[in-house]
Amino acid sequence: MSDLRQQLEKLRDDGLAEIAAAADAAALDAVRVKYLGRKGAVQAAFEKLPTLPKEERPAFGALANQAREALAAALNDRKTAFEAGARKSGPKLDLTLPGRGTTVGRPHPITQIIDEVVHIFGRMGFAVADGPDIETEYYNFDALNTPAEHPARDIQDTFYLEGSGKRQGASGQSNRLLLRTHTSPVQVHVMEKQPPPVRVVVPGRCYRRDEIDATHHVNFHQFEGLYVDRNVSVANLKGDCEFFFKQLLGPETRVRFRPHFFPFTEPSFEIDLNSPMLRSRGKEWLEIAGCGMVNPRVFEYVGYDPEQWTGYAFGMGVERIAMVLYGIDDIRLFYENDLRFLRQF
Ligand code: PHE
Repeated sequence: MSDLRQQLEKLRDDGLAEIAAAADAAALDAVRVKYLGRKGAVQAAFEKLPTLPKEERPAFGALANQAREALAAALNDRKTAFEAGARKSGPKLDLTLPGRGTTVGRPHPITQIIDEVVHIFGRMGFAVADGPDIETEYYNFDALNTPAEHPARDIQDTFYLEGSGKRQGASGQSNRLLLRTHTSPVQVHVMEKQPPPVRVVVPGRCYRRDEIDATHHVNFHQFEGLYVDRNVSVANLKGDCEFFFKQLLGPETRVRFRPHFFPFTEPSFEIDLNSPMLRSRGKEWLEIAGCGMVNPRVFEYVGYDPEQWTGYAFGMGVERIAMVLYGIDDIRLFYENDLRFLRQF
């Protein structure tokens, strides 16, 4: 018994020494397996128990238990110490490193242009108006004097909302719903709500069933202008448009009017633009807007007296303007949310 007792005490002391000497958590675990594992030294000591005389077994058993507990406690202490050490040696604060900058966001280039346009027209006395993206066929076409058989109404060109009301022909108010194809329906909303004179600019999103390519998208932006007063003439239209484009794109910008047709203006024109940016890219005239004198038929729809009031209206594509201003040749870039592109503006 005294032999076995000595062996057990040595085993415990060796174990405690090895625990104290373990260099890291892995070494510590090896010590644990060696002493407390299923085939470890302490278990081996317990296995000697049946070989002892009966009266000696309780005292030896108690000793073996003490040894096991002492080792387990020491292992546990060391393990906690290693864990705390690991935390302490984690990433430290290095005050000599350069700071991490924050990026300040900015408005999308399309929003920047809209803001600029609104600002310029604001100085010319135009208020901002808006209208819904989902329109009725009445506002998008009928009240703008667009004939029932006009190709723009075709489902090939316009997004209609399924099962939404009835088409009633050019005479009735068609409440069939669609995504507006231009901002011109807002002309009608504004004139229905207020008596003349009117001077508004209307930025907004438009939708067309176009094949997507470098210059077309199913979703784009326009802004509409409407000026109704006594004695408004084509001279006002031309002068104001020219002033606007020079403000936006620089004094060397040139503007050209070509006769055109829109059902809601008469006479109608298309505006072509020529700017230093365009010239530097080897382009001559770029078609940028539609415009004209408000058709008296539209005045009749909204209850304005065409004998008293005249007006001009125009509509232009914001992406188009952005492309001219910044020399961008693919409209899709505006909608891809690629920060490498957007950060340039
Ligand atoms: N709405 C027309 C278009 O989208 C542009 C336009 C607006 C033309 C106002 C004349 C007057 O093409």
